[in-house]
Amino acid sequence: MPTLLFINACVRGRDSRTLALAEHLLARIKEANSKDMAFKIEEIRLSTENLLPLNYERLQRRDELLEAGQLDDTMFDYANAVAQADMLVIAAPYWDMSFPASLKVFFEAASVVGITFTYAEDGTPVGLTAAQDMYYVTTSGGYIGDCNFGFEYANALCRLYGVRNTHFVSAEGLDLDGADVQAIMEEACNGEIINYL
Ligand SMILES: Cc1cc2nc3c(=O)[nH]c(=O)nc-3n(C[C@H](O)[C@H](O)[C@H](O)COP(=O)(O)O)c2cc1C
Repeated sequence: MPTLLFINACVRGRDSRTLALAEHLLARIKEANSKDMAFKIEEIRLSTENLLPLNYERLQRRDELLEAGQLDDTMFDYANAVAQADMLVIAAPYWDMSFPASLKVFFEAASVVGITFTYAEDGTPVGLTAAQDMYYVTTSGGYIGDCNFGFEYANALCRLYGVRNTHFVSAEGLDLDGADVQAIMEEACNGEIINYL
């Protein structure tokens, strides 16, 4: 059965509006694909993972493992999960114009030459992931406008990994004075998914 990898970078547990929007999107994806293929959803909840950024020691260990071809080491669990998934859904609140640091650490661990991407002889990057689609879900206090750095970064990385179609879903302006949070959320849940093909 194809796997949908749900990378959950929401921080505020059940209070997270981003998580609520993502769960709605997951239901929409399930429904849309129910006839052709049912997805098994695998979640990586970053708030409960032991995420460590690369330091000198871990970087050396990673290089040694790569040199020895030990791509099944637990150090590469995230990279292997991303490489093997058939669809990616990333949920991350809009923080400081991008996303929480945990997602950056996850991407650092997932970006491994020989697992999620490689290089052709002429140096051109070649993606190695099975997934054709990535959905990026976020919510923000104000309006994101031209500062969609979180999505743009995730988009660029996923394209490096070989994902062809990326999609953006957001609910914005949630913390503005007088915002009708319920109405904004309902509109986002049922509204437009912006496709980047
Ligand atoms: C640490 C932090 C940084 C934030 N940075 C921004 C920001 O740069 N721009 C913005 O519009 N909202 C910002 N917000 C507001 C959140 O984007 C907004 O409340 C969002 O809906 C939170 O998502 P959640 O309900 O899933 O936690 C920030 C909130 C926090 C806690």
